[in-house]
Amino acid sequence: MSRDKEFWNEEVETLSPGEIEALQEDRFLRMVKQAWESPFYRQQWIRAGIDPEDIKGIEDLRKLPFTTKQDLRDFYPHGFLCVPKDRLVRVHISSGTTGQATAVFYTRADIAAWAELMARCMYMTGARPGDVFQNMTGYGLFTGGLGFHYGAELLGLLTVPSGAGNSKRQLQLMKDLGTTIIHIIPSYALRFMDYLNENGVEPRKDLNLRIAYLGAEPYSEEVRRRVEEFYGVKVYNSYGLSEMNGPGVAFECSYQKGMHIWEDAYIVEVVDPETGEPVPEGEIGELVLTTINREGMPLVRYRTRDLTRILPGSCPCGRNHRRIDRIQGRSDDMFIVKGVNIFPIQVEQVLMAIPEVGTNYRIVLKREKNVDEMIVQVEVTDRIFIEDMRELNRLKGKIQHELKSELLITPLVELVEPNGLPREEGKAVRLIDLRK
Ligand code: COA
Ligand code: AMP
Ligand code: ZN
Repeated sequence: MSRDKEFWNEEVETLSPGEIEALQEDRFLRMVKQAWESPFYRQQWIRAGIDPEDIKGIEDLRKLPFTTKQDLRDFYPHGFLCVPKDRLVRVHISSGTTGQATAVFYTRADIAAWAELMARCMYMTGARPGDVFQNMTGYGLFTGGLGFHYGAELLGLLTVPSGAGNSKRQLQLMKDLGTTIIHIIPSYALRFMDYLNENGVEPRKDLNLRIAYLGAEPYSEEVRRRVEEFYGVKVYNSYGLSEMNGPGVAFECSYQKGMHIWEDAYIVEVVDPETGEPVPEGEIGELVLTTINREGMPLVRYRTRDLTRILPGSCPCGRNHRRIDRIQGRSDDMFIVKGVNIFPIQVEQVLMAIPEVGTNYRIVLKREKNVDEMIVQVEVTDRIFIEDMRELNRLKGKIQHELKSELLITPLVELVEPNGLPREEGKAVRLIDLRK
């Protein structure tokens, strides 16, 4: 019997640091030429007085300005494209309908390259043909579902596209198909734990699970430990963001000590979020990423707003692609509930368009008995605060419906009388996160 190969893509995964740098330089220079074709970069660079001919090597990266989420919003949907539209085969779009949405387009080659990165990620944790992979995250416009899906099929896993939610069906599929690997949002892993408990299922005894990929939102080592113990799996941290394809940017190897960033696809910088200057190696700052292997829509020095650090030293697995630490937080006000990204401004825009809503509101995030909830407390105007329960329930329902269609999760809505919410020195406190 032939020995199992150790790497999915040995040539790239085992490049030396010098070889990685040389490959990055080649791809970076190619990417600069491509980016110049996009309306956004041409305008941005002309304004900054940059001639792409002056970019001669990777040391010139820092001459190029950052790209922000706001730029993506302002040039939504097509302003970043570098190829004719008939070369595109996929688009993913973030939630938000009121000027907040961002779009990422992919050519066929982009989808193939992304799938290859995902196959590497899963392979390095021990996933192999014969495994049954249940993909319990959002499909559709979310990148998590389809990103893993294509990688898993490329690797040769039997892929079960079960999507997010519907716990009864998830359990049935696990039992019927003998699922060995799951991809699941941390908050759902906790909630599904309760579901299994309530139904008398002991995963270690009754199921075949051995690996779980957890990502798309922050979670602690404590959550990893609980999930590992309860399900009898090894948990691997998975990091990505839609702007950088989706998952597959950084992933833990079998040593579970930080996530390798695939440096043949992304150039990594860690900067001080205030000044934009690089932080000393190993210190926490904001992750800035440049795509160097994407043809439809390259992004240059993209401010992820995620706070992390480069881990020092080399990894015993033999991969020289550097590792980042668990994400420590954000340098903006975005928060994530049930794997869905939310900006307070989205909530505000929805609320302020409803005439019965007053001037103040508050978002409270809770984790109670393993269930995450987003509670939106809303002051109503003087005109509405009457003792008519039916009227109040109608308003609550309306607010909930409008928020759900903007945010994609269902918040609990609480109505509060005018001036009923606390203010600190006149300033409203908008977000209270009580999740551990
Ligand atoms: N991921 C997947 N499913 C989840 C979840 C999560 N983080 N949190 C809860 N669920 C499940 C619930 O258990 C419930 O299923 P059940 O009734 O069979 O037990 C179902 O989803 C709906 O729960 P509810 O709390 O009413 O959800 P909601 O309406 O507030 O949100 C979700 C709907 C969960 C489907 C939506 O939050 C979602 O799609 N999340 C996944 C996002 C994702 O995949 N992100 C990856 C981005 S790359
Ligand atoms: P999206 O663009 O919807 O895929 O969301 C991307 C964002 O989710 C990132 O910018 C992070 O803030 C967050 N995220 C993704 N993976 C992780 C992870 N493993 N740990 C913490 N946060 C994560
Ligand atoms: Zn490693």
